[in-house]
Amino acid sequence: MSEDGESAGELEARLPDGETFEPPASFVEQANVSDEGIYEAFEEDWPACWERAADLLDWDDDYDTVLNDSDAPFYEWFTGGSLNASYNCVDRHVEAGRGDEAAIEWVGELGETRTYTYDDLHREVNEFAAALRELGVAEDDVVTLYMPMIPELPVAMLACARIGAPHSVVFAGFSADALATRMESADSEYLVTCDGYYRRGDVLPHKEKADEGLASVGHDVTTIVADRTGEEYDHPMADGEHDFDELLAAHEGATVEPVQRDAEDMLFLMYTSGTTGKPKGVKHTTGGYLSYVSWTAHAVLDIKPEDTYWCSADIGWITGHSYIVYGPLALGTTSVMYEGTPDYPEKDRLWEIVEDYDVTQLYTAPTAIRAFMKWGAEYPNRHDLSSLRLLGTVGEPINPRAWKWYYKHIGDESCPVVDTWWQTETGGMMITTLPGVGEMKPGSAGPPLPGISANVLDQSGDPVDPGEAGYLTVDKPWPGMLRTLYRNDERFVEEYWREYSDPEDDEWVYFPEDGAKLDEDGYITVLGRVDDVINVSGHRLGTMELESAIVGVEGVAEAAVVGGDHDIKGEAVYAYVITEDGHEGDEALRERIVTGVEDAIGPIARPEDVIFTPELPKTRSGKIMRRLLEDIANGDELGNTNTLRNPEIVDDIAGKVGGD
Ligand code: WTA
Repeated sequence: MSEDGESAGELEARLPDGETFEPPASFVEQANVSDEGIYEAFEEDWPACWERAADLLDWDDDYDTVLNDSDAPFYEWFTGGSLNASYNCVDRHVEAGRGDEAAIEWVGELGETRTYTYDDLHREVNEFAAALRELGVAEDDVVTLYMPMIPELPVAMLACARIGAPHSVVFAGFSADALATRMESADSEYLVTCDGYYRRGDVLPHKEKADEGLASVGHDVTTIVADRTGEEYDHPMADGEHDFDELLAAHEGATVEPVQRDAEDMLFLMYTSGTTGKPKGVKHTTGGYLSYVSWTAHAVLDIKPEDTYWCSADIGWITGHSYIVYGPLALGTTSVMYEGTPDYPEKDRLWEIVEDYDVTQLYTAPTAIRAFMKWGAEYPNRHDLSSLRLLGTVGEPINPRAWKWYYKHIGDESCPVVDTWWQTETGGMMITTLPGVGEMKPGSAGPPLPGISANVLDQSGDPVDPGEAGYLTVDKPWPGMLRTLYRNDERFVEEYWREYSDPEDDEWVYFPEDGAKLDEDGYITVLGRVDDVINVSGHRLGTMELESAIVGVEGVAEAAVVGGDHDIKGEAVYAYVITEDGHEGDEALRERIVTGVEDAIGPIARPEDVIFTPELPKTRSGKIMRRLLEDIANGDELGNTNTLRNPEIVDDIAGKVGGD
């Protein structure tokens, strides 16, 4: 249980402190959902209640069954129905006469802006879809998109969706190796990338990284390169590679009929970290996923077509897929897309954007809120933030102090804050208050959404008493759920459905691998991962992936990686390393380790500290005691060392942390 590795003080600071907040009346009055009867209505009418989500979309063929559970846990939703995601996110708004309204407001790092109306989006998505077709992309071919936050990314996603080619977006901050692994795993023969992009004013070469990744992909790949930096970065273009803008120009005015996709056809693939070394290819479908993200964007984010909504995540992660692109655009709103970082050129950048665009909802991560808090209220105070109506957070637990700061200094105590728990695998939000209905308790995400059945169980599968820590589980399927792990049904069942299910009785319980607490009102406080996944600034990193990157560095014999507490990032990576004979644990090796991790995964995985040690604390059966290593990283009192084979090493290691 993650609680083990946590100091009592630290955990306490994260738990709700009893203070509650009512949703502001001004919000409730206009909320998309304000009837508390919705929970009961969903329960009584389950699973048919999910038609409400499907009704937010336009279907080509109506579905005949809401839920097919005949082959659980391989559930199917809205079977018999067909639709196209790009039609739902673009065409239907144009057909409704809203073509001249903004779909995407893009703000570049250097201050440039681009507005894509629904007409613009329609034109580019069609042209790019035509180009992809001409390059040979067929229905069901996986197209990899290795792109930063530039408008060509959502254009490419929607173009893929239009022709029924699932996309696999690889976060631009991931390394060349990470790109190659994902392309190989998906047998993806098409790559859309870009020349470079900006970070704090500097150009980051991106095409070189893509080329380096491609060099280790074992099959032929057709590559398309978008131009972000103009003349500023002269990137290498090989023969046969295609320029994004030239392709659009070559297909100017082309239209492509949206392909009718079966509700259960794959919309996209998204790789995420798990307990074992290889990233998992999470498969999301067209009907269930799109219904679910539209429904949650409507009910939780309170999105209306006339809003200017902003989710500050990166589209390279699930949050960006669901709540920058698919959910908001399906609802026909204006979605803000910001390329840069919150502190460039100044620490008030986000607030400047909120003011300039009259942003109505802001959805961000606790790690960002903790940074804003540290920088101080003077930055938001410089701006008029009165356009804001709702605030949201996602990605990691938010401590009550940060919640209240956000509520007060950003929301002026007049915007509800939704603390939304969900995962790459769940497709969309699962646990959060409904902003127009429920009382808010800082530090607790809230009750499961209507139609979602979540419980907190102990190890043997019994519900824990209110206030006790246990394991979060979900015992009814939902439309946005992953359908499988790409080409690995066995691992899908193994990873998510083994722990608490009873296959003999056909009882299936989804295990998200998070620890949680439940209070008397049914509010859930998510405590964090209980598997070997570290959550750094809301990004999931597998310890096994990190360890294998470190062990791959010359001079390293063995490594153990744990997550230690971090004021801003939530958790940070701590690496304990045993050197090979003949190698010193010196600055040079430390640098090689850091570079090794950056090359294997990306800069987000950069270790906070590398601690050299002659041994790792191990149990008599040879298992590394990670809990102790976490205690050491956190400077906590050390847990029990009785069961160790080598207890003396613990003090030895503890002496090195912070000291070097
Ligand atoms: C954590 C991101 C506490 C959790 C959408 C989960 C949270 C993992 C919250 C999924 C929250 C996400 N409170 N913890 N509101 N939201 N998490 O797949 O541990 O990148 O399992 O999806 O983030 O991360 P993922």
